[in-house]
Amino acid sequence: MTGPALHPDVAHLACLLGVWRGKGSGIYPTIESFDYLEEVTIGHVGKPFLAYSQKTRHAETDLPLHAETGYLRPVGSDRVELVIAQPTGIVELHEGVFHPADGGGSLAFVSTSVQLTATARPVEHVTRSITVDADVMSYHVDMAAVGEPLQRHLTAQLQR
Ligand code: HEM
Repeated sequence: MTGPALHPDVAHLACLLGVWRGKGSGIYPTIESFDYLEEVTIGHVGKPFLAYSQKTRHAETDLPLHAETGYLRPVGSDRVELVIAQPTGIVELHEGVFHPADGGGSLAFVSTSVQLTATARPVEHVTRSITVDADVMSYHVDMAAVGEPLQRHLTAQLQR
């Protein structure tokens, strides 16, 4: 199946495109650690952004866990804006930097705003770091939330 041509403004982010599956683990001082299975889809429609969606399941119980969806909008060759919405009432806005590498690249995002619905858990700040090396994507997510300082919540490794 052939889709629309990749918009030239997102061509340098082509290493992110595809369906990625793998395993991750979550920690935070206020919760029990957990392992999860994840599927990430990053696609495009020929416009100057990439669409991102993710869903996870508990590694032992197979029950659905977290999910989220959003968009990456490159600004020039090295800056990337990211918006993400979560069903838990959390919206993250990020500014990021892209560093190309042989067969991939890395993205480092720092939240400029985290917006919460009235009943969402209090999340103040989020950083996300993503590395693609050929068909392997690894990422980690840190957050300052529920009164705790910025620290690791998630680490995962996925395969395309
Ligand atoms: C792979 C994605 C993620 C998975 C699998 C995941 C999973 C979990 C699990 C299992 C818990 C503990 C049980 C619960 O409260 O539901 C939890 C707690 C929490 N997560 Fe995540 N999470 C993910 C992403 C995120 C993100 C991106 C954020 C915020 C930006 C976030 C914020 C929180 C908060 C605030 C808590 C509650 C901590 C507390 O109440 O003490 N999570 N997460």
